[in-house]
Amino acid sequence: MYSNDSFSRLDESDDSIFYATDRFVQHIDSFALKTVERIIGELVIEDDPVILDLMAGWDSHLPSTIQPKRVVGLGLNRNELAQNESLTDWLCHDLNKNPSLPFPDNTFDAVLNVVSVDYMTRPLEVVREVGRILKPGGLFLVIFSNRMFEQKAVKLWRHSAEGERVLLVEEFFNQAGIFTRPQVFLSKGKPRPHEDKYAHFGIPSDPIYAVYAEKNGGETSARPKRLTDSALPDLPDLKELERRKAAVKDTLQCPHCSEKLLKWEVPQNPFSQWDLEFMFLCFNDECPYLVRGWDVMYRQGNTGLSYRFAYDPVRDQCLSVPVPSLQALKEGIVE
Ligand SMILES: C[S@@+](CC[C@H](N)C(=O)[O-])C[C@H]1O[C@@H](n2cnc3c(N)ncnc32)[C@H](O)[C@@H]1O
Repeated sequence: MYSNDSFSRLDESDDSIFYATDRFVQHIDSFALKTVERIIGELVIEDDPVILDLMAGWDSHLPSTIQPKRVVGLGLNRNELAQNESLTDWLCHDLNKNPSLPFPDNTFDAVLNVVSVDYMTRPLEVVREVGRILKPGGLFLVIFSNRMFEQKAVKLWRHSAEGERVLLVEEFFNQAGIFTRPQVFLSKGKPRPHEDKYAHFGIPSDPIYAVYAEKNGGETSARPKRLTDSALPDLPDLKELERRKAAVKDTLQCPHCSEKLLKWEVPQNPFSQWDLEFMFLCFNDECPYLVRGWDVMYRQGNTGLSYRFAYDPVRDQCLSVPVPSLQALKEGIVE
């Protein structure tokens, strides 16, 4: 699976040089950050947990519902760690130079790694170490998005698609041989907050992927096996949906969000599966059908896809057209 240079980086200089610069910024948008907090809040269920924030900065994203006994931060930037209000203690330690974690066996209830796994050049050794320092039944939670410091991310990560990265992180857990089967949660395609600095690009909120498992040997776990996405928008009830679908011919409105459908030119190429010239599509980026679709498709094994509602006026038929991004298909809008 790995080639000799899989874990090489564009910038191979000492990591302490790159991380000497203070970065009191958030690496993902505010909606994605709330999702990170929610995931941590749902999965860290211990009453007074001892937590390690692995590759920590100035914010550990712990929700106020967690009352930890101790939170240790391990990272590379002193000022950020010193100003992280969640931490009870912290240390600078370069995992790429030395993947051994300076803690005794069975110390932590939870080890969290947020938007940083892409910078590990020796992930298998680190994940094995995480297994050693976790208590039996303890949680290892790896959360990531699709943004990165390109020059410091390993080649394998940069060259992988988002879905492949999920498989890669699952593989790290599996290869360590000390964890239960990793679970995956994803949140994708949610509207970007309007005040966000990238909102004008029309891109969705940063996706969040979480891969997590427990160290083997714990008692029966009360941790949720599967997280539900409480941020998914509601759909109209089925009866109402059927009524609206039957009326699309006259209303030309999306039955899921009621937005006006736009006339869309069907691509005329040998790969097109449609034999008509125009269809009507819902191009509302906040349509619940589209927003939910990322999760539905993922659960069916189609990572990185959702779908938009479409109406075929020739056959008077409602269908869905798969999309890999919010921008896809928009070049075909006619009116
Ligand atoms: C993108 S930041 C994420 C910080 C924090 N986890 C968060 O969610 O905001 C990446 C972090 O990884 C840490 N890091 C990068 N390379 C590291 C290394 N070789 N050893 C230890 N920590 C490292 C840096 O100190 C930095 O805080």
